[in-house]
Amino acid sequence: MANIAILGCQWGDEGKGKIVDLLTEKTNAVVRFQGGNNAGHTIWVDGKKSVFHLMPSGVFHPNNILVIGNGVVINPHILWEEINQLSETGIDLKGRLFISDSAHIITNFHSAIDKIREEDKILTKGSKIGTTGLGIGPAYEDKCARVGLRFMDFYDMDLCEEKFYHNAGLHLSSVQAVHKNYELPNLDDIYSSLKEVSLKLLPFVCDTLDLLHKISDKGEHILLEGAQGCFLDIDHGTYPFVTSSNTTIGGALTGTGMSTKMIDQVIGVSKFYATRVGEGPFPTELNDEIGALLQEKGHEKGATTGRDRRCGWLDVCQLQKASLLNGLTSMVLTKLDVLDTLAEIKICTHYLVGGDVDKIENKFPNRTDILSELTPVYETLPGWQSPTKGIREFSELPKNAKSLVKRIEELVKVPVTIVSTGPDRLDTIIRKHPFAD
Ligand code: GDP
Ligand code: IMO
Ligand code: MG
Repeated sequence: MANIAILGCQWGDEGKGKIVDLLTEKTNAVVRFQGGNNAGHTIWVDGKKSVFHLMPSGVFHPNNILVIGNGVVINPHILWEEINQLSETGIDLKGRLFISDSAHIITNFHSAIDKIREEDKILTKGSKIGTTGLGIGPAYEDKCARVGLRFMDFYDMDLCEEKFYHNAGLHLSSVQAVHKNYELPNLDDIYSSLKEVSLKLLPFVCDTLDLLHKISDKGEHILLEGAQGCFLDIDHGTYPFVTSSNTTIGGALTGTGMSTKMIDQVIGVSKFYATRVGEGPFPTELNDEIGALLQEKGHEKGATTGRDRRCGWLDVCQLQKASLLNGLTSMVLTKLDVLDTLAEIKICTHYLVGGDVDKIENKFPNRTDILSELTPVYETLPGWQSPTKGIREFSELPKNAKSLVKRIEELVKVPVTIVSTGPDRLDTIIRKHPFAD
């Protein structure tokens, strides 16, 4: 048995999709365990780009079954769209895709509420979260309030209808009380389209907990695919500028029903620099020409919303905290090639609080107010100023690129086993394969 979890170590978009696609060549099942279609996971194979929001990224390896675990919040319309798009390319998911009967449903009124709240100047008091507007937060709120709709509710459509209208009515009346000017969505339209699409999805619904345990008991390999990243975690992220699920290792367990004993490796993915979409503190953010270069060369635009990603230097304190929180057994570093033209590369090793040289902070703090006051202190390493795109052997990297990898490894105290040198599946250096003996 060798099951591995792949988790983002920053604020999402670290390149998890590419790595999941790469590693699922050797697995039998891949499972999403949290988040929803706020995720945008990009895969490039043979010059063709695919972006998945709900579909696990192992879809191009037919040796894998695809599981959407109980911790995911699912917009059935988006999932059905992804199933159809894949079917048009000849990938049939019948008997291969399994949706947890306990997974919660995002309806279009959840997305409407998400958007209304983000636009509301009084509610947000000028401090928007910058959500994807896809209803993720409101759906998880319903889950915690114990009023959410789950896929198993579709087994009794009468009861489901009653729950839907009751829940939607409660939400919309509270929204209406505060935001008198917003046009509310039509519930009958939402329910009838929800019912139609959910009935199409019912053949894929099952008890995925049972399924995953059976697979693992057979000695087959399961890959758990994280969405978002460590610092968007609802408990450990830069609250309130976070998503509404646990993106750290705990979410992988609760979101699938797998136990600690079943996870052999926890692999953290990070870029060689840092990005963030949406609002919130970002100590190493660069609002200068280097930030612009990273944005342009890294094509740093959100895969879900198309927003520009904010860019900055790598924050080693973040990676150290990601390792601590998740018990990382190894790391994957992506987008080395984006740094190719730089004369110098900086990595943040600690901070000064409020610019005071006597107030040194070595750890990534959890307090947003302190985070906003930090001045990063950098270690500067020489660049290599030669192309690394597509390099597949560590020995072929320029000396300074190798030194950067080794320095990050040394500071984070976690081995870097994979280095990504381009978006394509093949643009990868595998120093030690997670499934090697
Ligand atoms: P995810 O959400 O963590 O799966 O990451 P995204 O797909 O949102 O964003 C990562 C972006 O970087 C995608 O456009 C990938 O195709 C791209 N990417 C991944 N690895 C590399 C790499 O090593 N080099 C370059 N240039 N692009 C990469
Ligand atoms: P992947 O899986 C980057 C961000 C949003 C916003 C915050 C809350 O592709 O790495 P939400 O809609 O979740 O309530 O928004 O979280 N966010 C992401 N940023 N990558 C993601 O997913 C994200 N999913 C959510 O931009 O700041
Ligand atoms: Mg993404």
